[in-house]
Amino acid sequence: MIPFNYLGFVFKHFGSYIYPKKVLEELCIFLQPLRDEASVLDVGAGTGMMSEFAHRCNSKLRYVAVDPAKGMLKYSEKYIEKHIATAEALPFDDDSFDAVLMGESLHHFDDPGIAMKEIVRVLKKNGKLFIYDFDKGTFMGKSLWAMEKLLGEPAHFYELHALKKMLEEHGFTVHVSRHKWRYSVSAGL
Ligand SMILES: C[S@@+](CC[C@H](N)C(=O)[O-])C[C@H]1O[C@@H](n2cnc3c(N)ncnc32)[C@H](O)[C@@H]1O
Repeated sequence: MIPFNYLGFVFKHFGSYIYPKKVLEELCIFLQPLRDEASVLDVGAGTGMMSEFAHRCNSKLRYVAVDPAKGMLKYSEKYIEKHIATAEALPFDDDSFDAVLMGESLHHFDDPGIAMKEIVRVLKKNGKLFIYDFDKGTFMGKSLWAMEKLLGEPAHFYELHALKKMLEEHGFTVHVSRHKWRYSVSAGL
């Protein structure tokens, strides 16, 4: 397993380099329809990198981060509300959030199916989901998948057609963008 609890410093200082500029532009476009003070949940937030990027697009939203690794969350910015929890058991009421973000975290979840049910539960009607992760349909994506498997990680890397199908089964309308060996998804309920 990857010892995320001890990797906060590394992710805080070097984690941003793996986000393509185009994904950050798409994230800003994704956030545009949200009203001021809308609530955004960052799942598998780590050091809150996705929330930090989102905050640069819109600092008027309410940012909430969930991650099981306290050692990651402790590096997140002050404006982010922090919760130590997993995606499979979100500590929030139904219909709590306007949007959910997931950056390089989906493939680490133990059970993405249960996590998606939880995300749909805590999202409001017409809630939105933004995902950034690695595409298993590419050579690089497959190599990372194999490496993470060797490390004992769940490694739920998706090929894009399978991811789209999975999200549609959970009720989302899905738009996928490819970024070489990575992808981003903007989806809505
Ligand atoms: C590669 S890091 C990405 C962190 C951050 N989103 C970013 O973009 O830098 C993956 C994160 O997923 C978290 N994670 C692992 N299992 C999880 C689960 N079941 N539910 C939620 N988060 C999980 C890890 O603790 C870690 O912080």
